[in-house]
Amino acid sequence: MTELPRPSSLPLPIQTERLVLRPYGHRDAPRVLDIHRRLDVIRWLGDPPYTPMASLVEAAAWIDDLNRLHEADPRCVGLAAEVRESGVVAGTVMIAPCPRSEPLDLQVGWHLHPDSTGRGYATEGARGLIDAAYAHLDGTAPDRPLLDLVWCGMFPDNKGSAAIARRLGLEDLGVRDDPWYDGDSQLFQTTRDHWTGARRERPVR
Ligand SMILES: CC(C)(COP(=O)(O)OP(=O)(O)OC[C@H]1O[C@@H](n2cnc3c(N)ncnc32)[C@H](O)[C@@H]1OP(=O)(O)O)[C@@H](O)C(=O)NCCC(=O)NCCS
Repeated sequence: MTELPRPSSLPLPIQTERLVLRPYGHRDAPRVLDIHRRLDVIRWLGDPPYTPMASLVEAAAWIDDLNRLHEADPRCVGLAAEVRESGVVAGTVMIAPCPRSEPLDLQVGWHLHPDSTGRGYATEGARGLIDAAYAHLDGTAPDRPLLDLVWCGMFPDNKGSAAIARRLGLEDLGVRDDPWYDGDSQLFQTTRDHWTGARRERPVR
């Protein structure tokens, strides 16, 4: 398996207190497989059917797809959240297209390996990614397209994910008919102005 160039609009890697947010490479395929072979992880990530990942070849293809997110929209990016202290990839944070949206709506998302939950890594990684995205994607140059509205949605019973959105200070829109996925979702949103205000007003945790 070869390493591919992984272009992104954002300067990478993104450093947070405990994490390095960096592109996945094929060397990460075993960890990617160990995350996505788990029904208890993938069942939260979208509409069914849920098919657990079964091979390193699939993991490499997933990495390639993630690294091509920017081709759909240059504001999109998917990154490994690597724990600085251990070098372990805790999981993924991303800004990704909402399915079936035209023009594209964008959403922020996260998922962790179960061995890395309960430590605040998803919140810290998502906060670092959104901070970097709003800082860089400010519309001041062709390679800095403006990022404004960002959505975030989860199944109404995904309490852990909703807690992250609340810790981040995203605007809570309640449970609604989901415009992009089947059924109802707990929806959140933020904008450049809202995020900046939320970052000023809210404590770090
Ligand atoms: C959703 C998911 C990312 C939540 O993981 P998580 O570990 O609860 O979220 P965080 O990494 O932000 O950690 C927050 C937890 O760590 C705790 N924590 C411990 N040390 C911490 C620290 N130093 N800083 C911040 N939080 C810390 C927090 O108190 C919180 O625990 P609590 O919910 O019991 O209060 C994870 O369960 C997952 O990947 N699920 C499957 C996929 C999924 O649902 N993705 C979202 C789809 S919408």
